Amino acid sequence: MANVFSYSIGRKLLMSLSGLFLIMFLFVHLTVNSFLLLDPVFGTQEGDMFNAGVHFMTMNPLIKIIEPILFGGFILHVLYSIVLTIQNMRARGSAVYASGNKTSDVEWSSKNMFVLGIALGAFLVIHLIQFWIKMKFTGDPLLADTTFSYFGVQTTGHNAYALVHEAFQIPWVIVAYVVGGIALAFHISHGFWSALHTVGFSNNIWLYRLQTLSTVLAWIIGLGFCTIALVQYAFYPLS
Ligand code: HEM
Repeated sequence: MANVFSYSIGRKLLMSLSGLFLIMFLFVHLTVNSFLLLDPVFGTQEGDMFNAGVHFMTMNPLIKIIEPILFGGFILHVLYSIVLTIQNMRARGSAVYASGNKTSDVEWSSKNMFVLGIALGAFLVIHLIQFWIKMKFTGDPLLADTTFSYFGVQTTGHNAYALVHEAFQIPWVIVAYVVGGIALAFHISHGFWSALHTVGFSNNIWLYRLQTLSTVLAWIIGLGFCTIALVQYAFYPLS
């Protein structure tokens, strides 16, 4: 019996489910990152809220379970995107040959999902080298333990804020985050509704609503990441 995932629809379903999972991760990630901007609001010492947020994520057993699933989902998403793109290019090649139709009515982001994905991949390589690899594997002098208020209790933990704060003083890093955030917004603005459509959540009435929701959600996430980087650069200079 042929494997369900060898069929195009099975692959698209896996792409969609892994994509939806990655969007959920991004929402949580953006929430924790927004703590970078909250110290003036709560009157805490600069970096306290972010360090507490990162500490919470690091200590949380649920996150330890989710991390390998996230990694697997990411690999799956990338691999199937390559397979689907090649299939689509072949199919479109013969369709164009037969009809001359260049599908010009399809929205820009939908036609450029693979290119947007490559831009995001490039951003992610920079991002993971800058933060994740240092926090998980190599360490960095900037991460030396510091104390911060954690649910009202003075706690000692990594100074993730110092690492992010220093990175966000470098102009090319800010450009990378702005380009990455915008590519992310375009990618999700098509990806979210398309994934929900694939898993069967939309019909003629809901399609337009989901597309609107998708655009709003995508730009909240994409511009959210851009804004955090820009605000850090403009208003939180190194002291
Ligand atoms: C303002 C922008 C951002 C900041 C300050 C930021 C900060 C961080 C930090 C400090 C880590 C390491 C956390 C740890 O290991 O405990 C991390 C990990 C990660 N970030 Fe970001 N990030 C930003 C934007 C993004 C964007 C736009 C994406 C995706 C397109 C992304 C995807 C990831 C992934 C996949 C990881 C590794 C998984 C994990 O640690 O759970 N980040 N980020």
